[in-house]
Amino acid sequence: MEPQRGHVPDVTAFTDFVWGVATSAYQIEGAALEDGRLPSIWDTFCEVPGAIDGGDTGHVACDHYHRWREDVGLLERLGVDAYRFSVAWPRVVPDGTGPVNPRGLAFYDRLVDALLDAGIRPFATLYHWDLPQALQDRGGWPERDTAQRFADYAAVVAERLGDRVADWTTVNEPLCCSWHGHLEGSMAPGVRDLEAAVRTSYHLHLGHGLAVQAVRAAARLTPSIGIVNNLSPIDPATDSEEDHAAARRLDGHVNRWWLDPVTGRGYPEDMLAVYGVDLPIRPGDLETIAAPLDYLGVNYYFRQVVAADPEGPVPYARQLEVPGATTTAMGWEADAGGLERLLVRLAREYAAPRLYVTESGSAWRDTVGPDGTVDDPERLAYLEDHIAACGRAIEQGAPVAGYFAWSLLDNFEWAYGYDKRFGLVHVDYETQARTVKSSGHRYAEIIKASKGLRVA
Ligand code: IFM
Repeated sequence: MEPQRGHVPDVTAFTDFVWGVATSAYQIEGAALEDGRLPSIWDTFCEVPGAIDGGDTGHVACDHYHRWREDVGLLERLGVDAYRFSVAWPRVVPDGTGPVNPRGLAFYDRLVDALLDAGIRPFATLYHWDLPQALQDRGGWPERDTAQRFADYAAVVAERLGDRVADWTTVNEPLCCSWHGHLEGSMAPGVRDLEAAVRTSYHLHLGHGLAVQAVRAAARLTPSIGIVNNLSPIDPATDSEEDHAAARRLDGHVNRWWLDPVTGRGYPEDMLAVYGVDLPIRPGDLETIAAPLDYLGVNYYFRQVVAADPEGPVPYARQLEVPGATTTAMGWEADAGGLERLLVRLAREYAAPRLYVTESGSAWRDTVGPDGTVDDPERLAYLEDHIAACGRAIEQGAPVAGYFAWSLLDNFEWAYGYDKRFGLVHVDYETQARTVKSSGHRYAEIIKASKGLRVA
């Protein structure tokens, strides 16, 4: 099946498919200090001079905390089956541990009820990077205690929402928290320390495993639980032995380190040697981390072409630009074939029981037309190409059960602030007006077509 630019992709292979969109709490909610929420590490990081482009913060974001009803209305207009959102730990357990904040939990209660009333399946993510600052002050993810505190918080949320929410993600993109947050320092909490980064990855995995147990114990509906990783196919820049070895190392750093432990393979030996950091493993931990999962979530944005970089930082592999490639406003290569390869690999190498593309999307320099519409042909083509890639993966046997476009709304793109827009819906940050872009309209058509409904 070739990508059909300008046409609704062939969605005949997509049986019982879940069509969704995704967001995360800190990127859209705003109301940073309202109703008992306390700061997370991202509130703190936003105060660091130069940390965020334009000095932006998530304090107001898309004001979703107040406009959630309107946003559920947008989901209905798009006709999605499911909405993937995250619960803000600093809203629900503001100190990270101890008293639960009823007003924080009530927000998600209302949201879930409204989604269900609209016939939309809630997919709840428990951790999308907003660690309560109080826990960071006690050492954060490099400390084992944080994993246990995460499981306690997961139990609180599952007890409250688990009678209506069946689909759960423990942790979103632990790679970013570990490598960007603790190795490169480009994300909160802005640490640059290999040992802290490796310990963070380990405790995120442990927290994931403990949270799986907590959700299974607390939820009343039989839960479907997974973890979401951001993954990339890695290609060597040349056929040289050095570049092949670099590609293998980067594959370890970006893919295998995150997939192997949660699928029962333990930590990759080659990467333990590359990092040279002892993991704080206690008896039983690896079994906890490898708790059986119902699905693997895949966030896919780009592949990476790499050359050996012996003098560079861990993992000694330098990403190269691909000549002639189409690149998004993030500078990322648009390569739908990479998604197809990834999904097929997860099916074949990791025997994934079910796969969801939990995020897929692109930022472009959108402009609002004189008539108020937002025409975004690049995002639309990207969307179609990536959905077609899912179709090709399904044809090759990958159990792809859903696709969640990133993102419902333009939002706070972390260290890039508000300049990078990923939404299917445009947000005017001055007025908070929402406008469905051409890509959003096309997504609605694709969803309709997949259900055999007539596309207007
Ligand atoms: O905006 C992020 C999201 O929070 C996590 N995955 C990647 C997206 C785009 O960078």
